[in-house]
Amino acid sequence: MLEVRDLHVSYGRAQVLFGVGLEAPAASLVCLMGRNGVGKTTLLKAVMGVLPARSGTVTFDGRDITKLKVHERVRLGLGYVPQGHETFPQLTVAENLQVARETAGNRRAGVVDEAFDLFPALRGLLKRRAGFLSGGQQQQLAIARALVTEPRMLLLDEPTEGIQPSIVLEIEEAIRQLHAAGLGILLVEQYLELALRLADRFVILDAGEVVRSGPADDLRDESVRRLLAV
Ligand SMILES: Nc1ncnc2c1ncn2[C@@H]1O[C@H](COP(=O)(O)OP(=O)(O)OP(=O)(O)O)[C@@H](O)[C@H]1O
Ligand SMILES: [Mg+2]
Repeated sequence: MLEVRDLHVSYGRAQVLFGVGLEAPAASLVCLMGRNGVGKTTLLKAVMGVLPARSGTVTFDGRDITKLKVHERVRLGLGYVPQGHETFPQLTVAENLQVARETAGNRRAGVVDEAFDLFPALRGLLKRRAGFLSGGQQQQLAIARALVTEPRMLLLDEPTEGIQPSIVLEIEEAIRQLHAAGLGILLVEQYLELALRLADRFVILDAGEVVRSGPADDLRDESVRRLLAV
């Protein structure tokens, strides 16, 4: 469903991705892994169109989306939760969700309720400004915001990073439920145990190249663990 082929991405003169290839089949959960600074976030940004590809292609459902704008990719069914749970801090929880719905072309009102079913704590915080939420609540809001665009493929960039353990468990459970319901997920995750519990497949980046990929069970191999060790 999502296919990245021979992708090259640079920040100015500094090239960061060197011919990355990756497939995330419909309804699969693919875990994108690798040490700090190898290019995981850069790859997600290029898939979403936040960063341009210098060369290579991104296709979604067989359609070449490499040149499309971010909002066009959202309308086609790609959802994105950036690293560091970015929300609009001055807007309330309700307003954050409303803006997302409009960006995606005003999806049906029921999607907001469905997001609250996944994160019930947010329901009681509707009028609170996002900037006053805890880090974990902001992460849940960021995921909810992506969900109200009704994606078929969700890109999640380290959703458990720096989040308190009880909320990490809630987020893990939410990801499991979304996957079980048939949503395709490309998850950047550095925590191996979490990846083992959730993923169907994994891809490991190192210095801007894919160095290993396979079924999640292979994450138990010593040779794979070495690629992730600091
Ligand atoms: N805006 C930018 N301008 C220039 N270089 C950048 C920029 N953003 C990232 N980089 C560089 O690109 C490389 C890859 O960064 P990226 O954020 O994609 O890595 P990452 O794998 O997501 O790391 P982390 O695990 O720490 O989130 C790094 O060397 C980083 O310093
Ligand atoms: Mg990153």
